[in-house]
Amino acid sequence: MATEALTIENLTVRYPMRGGVLGRVQQFFTAVEDFSFSLETGEILAIVGESGCGKSTLAQALVGLAPWTIGKMTLLGEELKPSSRKDLTLIRRQMQMVFQDPFSSLNPRQTVSEILMYPLLARGFSRIESSQKIKETLSLVGLSTEVLSRFPHAFSGGQRQRIGIARSLVLSPKILICDEVTSALDVSVQAQVIQVLDEIRRQAGISLIFISHDMQVVRALADNVIVMYLGQIMEKGSVSQVLNSPKHPYTKALIKSIPTLDREHPPEILEGDWATHASPKTGCRFAPRCPQRMPRCTEDSIPLDSMDSVLCRCILGRPS
Ligand SMILES: Nc1ncnc2c1ncn2[C@@H]1O[C@H](COP(=O)(O)OP(=O)(O)O)[C@@H](O)[C@H]1O
Ligand SMILES: [Mg+2]
Repeated sequence: MATEALTIENLTVRYPMRGGVLGRVQQFFTAVEDFSFSLETGEILAIVGESGCGKSTLAQALVGLAPWTIGKMTLLGEELKPSSRKDLTLIRRQMQMVFQDPFSSLNPRQTVSEILMYPLLARGFSRIESSQKIKETLSLVGLSTEVLSRFPHAFSGGQRQRIGIARSLVLSPKILICDEVTSALDVSVQAQVIQVLDEIRRQAGISLIFISHDMQVVRALADNVIVMYLGQIMEKGSVSQVLNSPKHPYTKALIKSIPTLDREHPPEILEGDWATHASPKTGCRFAPRCPQRMPRCTEDSIPLDSMDSVLCRCILGRPS
């Protein structure tokens, strides 16, 4: 039996851009382009990249909240179509999202008990079965059953995020998609949430897609990482390979820009941002900002090829 929980092939998401007096669709913006990856059972796969590179769009496409222009999804060995209502129900049964902001993603008028009970009752579980599942889930995220009678405002950011994770976990999905779940939290609380996610992966055998712009958090938690730039995969490999010996100039720049407490070696800021550098029509999307750019970089399309044991979309180090 395949251990792959999820395989995505050539996923592309294009948003229509309207303009003119009549608001007609004039062109399309490609937020995710030709994205292929697979996720093993129990794996934590991080997706990193600057704000606006398409991380949330990718997450939303996986659970049918953003439109697929092209692409194929195989979930637990079965090929499914997020555009089909029937398949979408199956997808959401196995794949759940945890959102960034634990303050706005929980209904302030519902107690924790109601928040966790609702999806279970809607799925047809009895109250007794639901209570049992809620108890198990709370223990998995490190909360006691005392929280059940309280409202979200009574909790700190880290506790609320655990409640958010519990809500996504309560239906026993096989894959959890965490979109910047630690970004709104203090560093010490981030560490607790990371511990909870690691525990969930070990105890419940769940696979995680962990979206973040924080390389330190990724290093602490993930097994493998995809570095994304303007909708494309630039580099993919194990966390230790990609973060310790990055191949792509963009990955190198991202790592060099990590804030540090070391005054002797201050971070190197990556100049400009993608929005001010029109992406070239051909070649590497990062070329306009790349310190190692060569004329060839913008001439031909550059495939994602294996380089040592990672995948990298760059012509540096390849025979010309
Ligand atoms: N619903 C939408 N319609 C049009 N463009 C969108 C929509 N959602 C996101 N975008 C654009 O897609 C790009 C990627 O956005 P997003 O996926 O939110 O990036 P990230 O999560 O990496 O910050 C951005 O340029 C954003 O403006
Ligand atoms: Mg986002």
